[in-house]
Amino acid sequence: MSTWANLGLQDSASPLMEQLIFFHDHALLILVMITVLVGYLMFMLFFNKYINRFLLHGQLIEMIWTILPAIILLFIALPSLRLLYLLDEINEPSVTLKSIGHQWYWSYEYSDFNNVEFDSYMVPTNELENDGFRLLDVDNRIVLPMNSQIRILVTAADVIHSWTIPALGVKVDGTPGRLNQTNFFMNRPGLFYGQCSEICGANHSFMPIVIESVPVNHFIKWISNN
Ligand code: CUA
Repeated sequence: MSTWANLGLQDSASPLMEQLIFFHDHALLILVMITVLVGYLMFMLFFNKYINRFLLHGQLIEMIWTILPAIILLFIALPSLRLLYLLDEINEPSVTLKSIGHQWYWSYEYSDFNNVEFDSYMVPTNELENDGFRLLDVDNRIVLPMNSQIRILVTAADVIHSWTIPALGVKVDGTPGRLNQTNFFMNRPGLFYGQCSEICGANHSFMPIVIESVPVNHFIKWISNN
């Protein structure tokens, strides 16, 4: 069930998502300050008599209220640019996972490990376990090691899909004929859920993603049993 805690962003599980949350809060703070200032100004206009016989021009105030918003925008643009390059950086990944979008499921390939590959379908509501998440759980989860740099290669076999995990700050489109790349670092164990977020057809909402973040030795055990 949704509670008040679910109104905002999910708790981050990676340094990149942490940075995205910081930037969101920063931009929101600037937005609130602008809204309060402009709201106050508009409210005070109602009590203005609008009488000034000598007012012909106001060069100074026009300079101020042109340059000031431009400077405020820089305070959003520069951190945004920093974040953009941070998200794009690939730091020597220790594991590469290839995920291919299909209508309507994901298939995964661990190309580094004897090409382990499998399909990952959503668990239908009537087959769901009692503690399962409806429209969010899959039959075969991705298992990946925590505290390691992980590269994701995303593509699609039919239409455009999008490989999206909110807790990790990852959102990459899978496009037929193209191979997109991103990376992340999971700083805690757990289950991280995501959904395809391109409108890829009638059953678009039925292709969730589940990552099992586990310690490295657990991951090695899992991959060698596949
Ligand atoms: Cu695949 Cu939406």
